[in-house]
Amino acid sequence: MLRWMFFYFFEGRLTMKQKTLLFTSILLAFALIGLVVVFGNTVNEIHTLSKSIHQQGSSSIDRKHFILIVEEYDHAYWKRVANGAMDSAKNNNISLEIVGPFRSNISEHKILLEKAVASKVDGIIIQGLDDAEETPIINKAVEKGIPVITIDTDAAQSNRFAYVGTDNFRSGYLLGRYILEQTKSSEKIGIISGVKGATNQRERVGGLVSAFKNRLDFEIVDMGYSDISRLKAAQEAVKMLREHSNITIMIGTSGLDVMGIYDAVKHQKRNDVSIYGYDDMPETIELIQGGYVKATVVQKPYTMGLKAVDLMVDYTNGHKTLSTLHTDTKIISKEDLK
Ligand code: BGC
Repeated sequence: MLRWMFFYFFEGRLTMKQKTLLFTSILLAFALIGLVVVFGNTVNEIHTLSKSIHQQGSSSIDRKHFILIVEEYDHAYWKRVANGAMDSAKNNNISLEIVGPFRSNISEHKILLEKAVASKVDGIIIQGLDDAEETPIINKAVEKGIPVITIDTDAAQSNRFAYVGTDNFRSGYLLGRYILEQTKSSEKIGIISGVKGATNQRERVGGLVSAFKNRLDFEIVDMGYSDISRLKAAQEAVKMLREHSNITIMIGTSGLDVMGIYDAVKHQKRNDVSIYGYDDMPETIELIQGGYVKATVVQKPYTMGLKAVDLMVDYTNGHKTLSTLHTDTKIISKEDLK
């Protein structure tokens, strides 16, 4: 065909007009083929796009929606819990919403729980911050068919189907026993706790009291509340050290208290006071390494978040699950960090 066209075109058998006509027809034919190819591709792309939009739309409608209510939204400890929960949500294709008050506050915490119940989520994971205050709302959620898991702090009398977190009473008891082993003589103790009324804080202090019960030479002389703020912990600890010059041990029962106590002890130049606390925030680890803090109770906040969402997925898929999952705790000192 090409040979034939070449022959007629160049051998002079065609007039100029015929040549122009033939040339234009060839050009038009190529343009038409090009258009058909481009059109075909575009149709294909539109089809693929609309298919993926359709899939995305239906998957976000089908995805379960859980909510995690933390004690304080922008808090280092709760960010670890949130990271674990988000990883499980991603693995299980769950839509997870994380909410919490800006500053720890039981009333706001309760309002967030009420809102979650009203918005008919598929599952609520909540710190049982104040079990007595929150149990009726947890039960209301369950009556409405929304399953609830408590995390970090239990509301054991409620109808939550599971608790994931530290055995708080036992952790306080173990810390108390550890302190007894470290200190032989009689001691005067000051405690800085988190939020007044918070269940986990009451349980931890209960564990400490129980450990010291048979040692009359170990006396808890005062207690203050930090509202889980390092600054407030420091202010409370300074006040305590001024009022009780005989204090020899200070214990912080929520994550940042130990740092606040250190600030206070330094401020008051009381390096004869031994400090114990909770959690393994980087600053706490540094204080242990520097010999300023004797020991801390390490919890597993990431695992709590991860396991709580895992359990909620199992439960909402109709499987039987555990009702209590105590995550590990251990006491670490400078020796353990070597
Ligand atoms: C507790 C949390 C608390 C946090 C505050 C942790 O030890 O388990 O309930 O919110 O301390 O720092």
